[in-house]
Amino acid sequence: MITNQETGTHVDEVAAGIYRICTPLDIIPGGFTVNSYLIADDEPLLFHTGYRRLFPITLEAIGKVMPVETLRWIGGSHFEGDEYAALNGFLAAAPEATPFGTEIGVMTSINDFADRPARGLRDGEEFSIGSRRMKWLYTPHVPHGWDCGILFDLSTQTLLCGDLFTQPGANMPPVTESEVLTASEGMRGMMDYYAHATGTSSILERLAGLHPSMLACQHGSAYRGDGAALIRELAGTIEKGNGKLSARLPVMTA
Ligand SMILES: [Fe+2]
Ligand SMILES: [Fe+2]
Repeated sequence: MITNQETGTHVDEVAAGIYRICTPLDIIPGGFTVNSYLIADDEPLLFHTGYRRLFPITLEAIGKVMPVETLRWIGGSHFEGDEYAALNGFLAAAPEATPFGTEIGVMTSINDFADRPARGLRDGEEFSIGSRRMKWLYTPHVPHGWDCGILFDLSTQTLLCGDLFTQPGANMPPVTESEVLTASEGMRGMMDYYAHATGTSSILERLAGLHPSMLACQHGSAYRGDGAALIRELAGTIEKGNGKLSARLPVMTA
């Protein structure tokens, strides 16, 4: 459903009760998308607020699915504009909503930025939003940000995977069953958006161990299929790239 003709914002239910709110942007050649995910339940949850300047557009889109004041949880993967910048607008519009993020993110940024105190989630912490249980995984530096974390809906096996598998382009389907790794590797080649961290493979293996059936990407299509296999393929690609990089680096001797 198109919710704003001017911006081309649209809302699609990508898994049971999980709505992808997508706004195309022209911030890079060929276009880009910013997605927020709205999860319907007794305590509705919004993952990624979108940019501050998109607030009225995202608000309008949410209003087509549910009254915005019913939101109870508002969070994101890590503290950047597309993840949190519209937070205070939503806190004003939804007076009973609690902001959330990873413990480190709450300590370093969110509690300073937000108009109400935020809940910092521990690694592995689970919480209920009604009929669903959500699980938080702390994923420092994967793909970037000391404060990075990822949310998993245990009921639909949906991994709200933030910037993992970021795909460029403005006109992609809400859901695809074709792999998204080629496109996201194209993006990684264009913009080196992954931290060069030592723990990446083990964190990705942990995410694969959840066996997600959907990867709800913040940029691009959501992927429905064997999420574990795709995550392991990503880990292998990154490892191979690191191998090539270290082979190119001169050996330092004292
Ligand atoms: Fe990011
Ligand atoms: Fe993002």
